[in-house]
Amino acid sequence: MNILFFGDLVGRPARMALKQILPAYKEKYKVDLVIANGDNLAHGKGVTKNTLEEIKGYGVDIVTCGDHTWDTSQAIEICKSGDYDFICPANYPVLDHKKGYKIIEVNSKKVLVLNLIGRVFLKDHPDCPFRVVDKILEDNAKEFDIAIVDFHGEATSEKRALGLYLDSRVSCFLGTHTHIQTADEQIFPGGSAYISDVGMVGPEDSVLGCKKESVIDQMITQSKFRYEISDDDNILIGAVVVEIDDENSMAKKILRINEVIKIAL
Ligand SMILES: [Fe+2]
Ligand SMILES: [Fe+2]
Repeated sequence: MNILFFGDLVGRPARMALKQILPAYKEKYKVDLVIANGDNLAHGKGVTKNTLEEIKGYGVDIVTCGDHTWDTSQAIEICKSGDYDFICPANYPVLDHKKGYKIIEVNSKKVLVLNLIGRVFLKDHPDCPFRVVDKILEDNAKEFDIAIVDFHGEATSEKRALGLYLDSRVSCFLGTHTHIQTADEQIFPGGSAYISDVGMVGPEDSVLGCKKESVIDQMITQSKFRYEISDDDNILIGAVVVEIDDENSMAKKILRINEVIKIAL
């Protein structure tokens, strides 16, 4: 089974890019399941029903989230309703953990997709991701064949520690949030695919997908940050394709995608 996973989608440029590339990517990488991190999907600020529906139409099967869950009034409501293929970090206490994952059937296999958020260098105070993931995997031990974790975190140390903690218990552990792709993809000794950060799908000439001038000005003046998405039409595509062995549910290969495409804004 091949899983295509996109890092943080930044607003409309990312949605336009997905529309443009997904059919070709699905064919090229023989993709069975598409997952994307939607933390910045709706103009940088979490998700809305409209933006989720839009990218579902382009072929995204499941959307995960992160610290921007709280930026729209809709995200928690959407997550709790279970009506959308969308999950928020399971270790946010408001979710009672059960809305932070979904089990879906793909090619006759039960795939558990789980979203967690880190506690290092982030302003929220979620429950312990180590204990929460233990509980979810234990409670659902007989309910899934393949487990995929999106860990939305700032610190590579925390990502690697949790990734190694879960080695052999999940098929892949993929980091998101920093928008900067790391070149440390590997298959751990126990068979879990790992990368500290998948990167983003967003404007290349930017800081985190935002207008560089705004970010630089904010950092110099320490003024309030205004979220303005860069209007660069060169879009950086940060993604990975993980090949999972149907026999033992462990990863055989992780391929890192880091390319730039041009879109019509
Ligand atoms: Fe984030
Ligand atoms: Fe992000």
